[in-house]
Amino acid sequence: MNFQKKPRNQKLIFLEEEYNEYVKNPMNLNITRGIPSEDQLMLSEKMLGILKKPEDFLSNNTIDIRNYGELTGILEAKKLFSTILGSEMEEIIIGGNSSLSLMYLVLTTKLFMGSTPWKKDGPIKFLCPSPGYDRHFSMAEKLGFEMIPVEMDENGPNMTKIERLVVQDASIKGIWCVPTYSNPTGIIYSDEVVDRLAKMPTKASNFTIMWDNAYVVHHLTEDVKVAKNILKACKKAGYPERPWMFCSTSKITFPGAGVSAVAASGKNTAMLAKELSYQTIGFDKLNQMRHVKFLGNRKQLAKHMQKHATILKPKFDLIQKKLNERFKGSDLLTWSDPKGGYFVHLTTMDGCATKIVESLDKIGVKVTKAGATYPKGDNPKDNSIRLAPTSVELTDLEQAMDAIGLCIEMVSLKENMK
Ligand SMILES: Cc1ncc(COP(=O)(O)O)c(C=O)c1O
Repeated sequence: MNFQKKPRNQKLIFLEEEYNEYVKNPMNLNITRGIPSEDQLMLSEKMLGILKKPEDFLSNNTIDIRNYGELTGILEAKKLFSTILGSEMEEIIIGGNSSLSLMYLVLTTKLFMGSTPWKKDGPIKFLCPSPGYDRHFSMAEKLGFEMIPVEMDENGPNMTKIERLVVQDASIKGIWCVPTYSNPTGIIYSDEVVDRLAKMPTKASNFTIMWDNAYVVHHLTEDVKVAKNILKACKKAGYPERPWMFCSTSKITFPGAGVSAVAASGKNTAMLAKELSYQTIGFDKLNQMRHVKFLGNRKQLAKHMQKHATILKPKFDLIQKKLNERFKGSDLLTWSDPKGGYFVHLTTMDGCATKIVESLDKIGVKVTKAGATYPKGDNPKDNSIRLAPTSVELTDLEQAMDAIGLCIEMVSLKENMK
């Protein structure tokens, strides 16, 4: 790297002086959590009182949704979610308030149940495109899977590496994917990546793609693009049982009080429904109907998501403005410019991310722990920071970005003078 020591040295002195001012007057800012802001939550407030008339409590004009029944969800919710996920209505199960618990259910079902439970085959390995979603990785860890990190680029995970691994190792049972506005890099899997995942030969006969479409309708711009449908691609490739597609309304209406869904082949959803039948008589159908009446159809949903985008876009724009002002053309930092989703990803110089996050912490700016988006929190390059700007006010975000820029410059210069 081309470092001209002297000017950088002087710059470092100025940066440290500025930093010390912050140390004397620390802030209290937190951009660690990918959660909606209060004004986003307000967008769905009307939904809460939407069921009023006696007929509002009837599904398909016949079923009383206040009572037990409809284990796999009401027809109206299946219609709505099948358009979101791009499946047939018969291929969908409507869950409770969390898609993560549906993912856990799928994995434990694959692990212990069915005619070829993974557990029978010995130790299990799982492919973990990284950086990725920390809760995917902690779930895999909890279930005892050995996690294999796979690098990501702007098209998705490194398919050459994946194809090479899965064709020779029967203990590799699956892969995590966040195909649209990936958490945290914001990329969209290319058609080529989707097709290769769908048709790659795998030594494990029961290889599984965990397709977490958490951000499938979360666009920030008019330029709406989503990853190709993995269920359709797998069917075409002759592996209909390979994918499971998930989504929820956690970041459409209310996190923790939304509705989730999973879509897969008819055979897979029948197996999952059987498993579910031992756990519950049915999920919250009142909430399903509230969501159906509030979100309506694809068009109405898009209008609602547009309102989210109106609140969120200025925050994402501000981050780009601040980073461009400070780092455009610099060798200290590269960053993502996502067109949807909830995060911006920073790639720092190797070996700097942890120190940057620690120095931010000292001045009262909390960002996600460096490396948190890697299996077991371990990023050997120590170069990854995730920004989650959605829940903070613009003025706070502006202050946080000034501090983030300062710490990145200060730490990177310091580390590279050693
Ligand atoms: C990729 C991804 N999947 C799933 C979730 C959580 O979804 P749910 O609230 O439906 O469990 C999140 C939340 O941040 C996420 O980023």
